[in-house]
Amino acid sequence: MTGMLLPLPSPVSLYRSPSARNPPLPPGGAVLSRMAGSTEKTMTPETPSGGGEGPADPRAPVTLLFDEVEIARRVGALAPEISRAIADGFTIVALLKGAFVFVADLVRALDGVGRHPRVEFITLSSYGRGRESAGTVRLIGELPAGVAGRAVLLVDDVADTGRSLAFARDLLLGQGTARIWICALVDKPSRREVEIAVDFTGFTIGDRFVVGYGIDYAEQYRHLPYIGALD
Ligand code: IMP
Ligand code: MG
Repeated sequence: MTGMLLPLPSPVSLYRSPSARNPPLPPGGAVLSRMAGSTEKTMTPETPSGGGEGPADPRAPVTLLFDEVEIARRVGALAPEISRAIADGFTIVALLKGAFVFVADLVRALDGVGRHPRVEFITLSSYGRGRESAGTVRLIGELPAGVAGRAVLLVDDVADTGRSLAFARDLLLGQGTARIWICALVDKPSRREVEIAVDFTGFTIGDRFVVGYGIDYAEQYRHLPYIGALD
């Protein structure tokens, strides 16, 4: 197999419909049902026993917002948007944990458009187990070395009040980063309290609390392959 160039699968081919899964749904998958008289689908996540401590009810219904096909299409479209704006040789700095699934798909989509970013991660203090931001953001651990003088694409799962992204942006600028672009998988502009320029957005939504595709509520739901709302 060495030396072979594999064609990039089309975004749609990455999709496995729930009915095509074998077994139909793995532990931690989800039961999909339609609400009668509604076009919205409700998913009841199946979580392994023992993972449900705290306020997140692991069986709370999740309203589907963006399924695997829509997410793959949107990530596939973001890559050329980013490649038109940022020359090769940039560094992605992704915020843990929420961006881990998104950034894994994004870097592979970027490879398909000739971009070969370095990838770094930073961890910021999070919402903890609640839904409202604590209002203060802290860096947990170290900043990545080697961002000085480089172009950075800062990637997060959700841009909500803007505090986390503004904090990370300022930290990186303090490290001498040459230029920073911001990419958020989900943007909630109506919730903004701190000004940030989101250069690349996966999905813009209203004031809803989302989970899935890496995004959690009290460490639950990150495993869901789709993005849904918990309200
Ligand atoms: P911000 O600092 O208020 O913009 O919040 C950003 C962080 O809060 C994101 O990185 C997420 O981890 C978390 N967050 C904001 N909105 C949501 C949501 O709807 N679901 C899950 N986490 C969220
Ligand atoms: Mg986050």
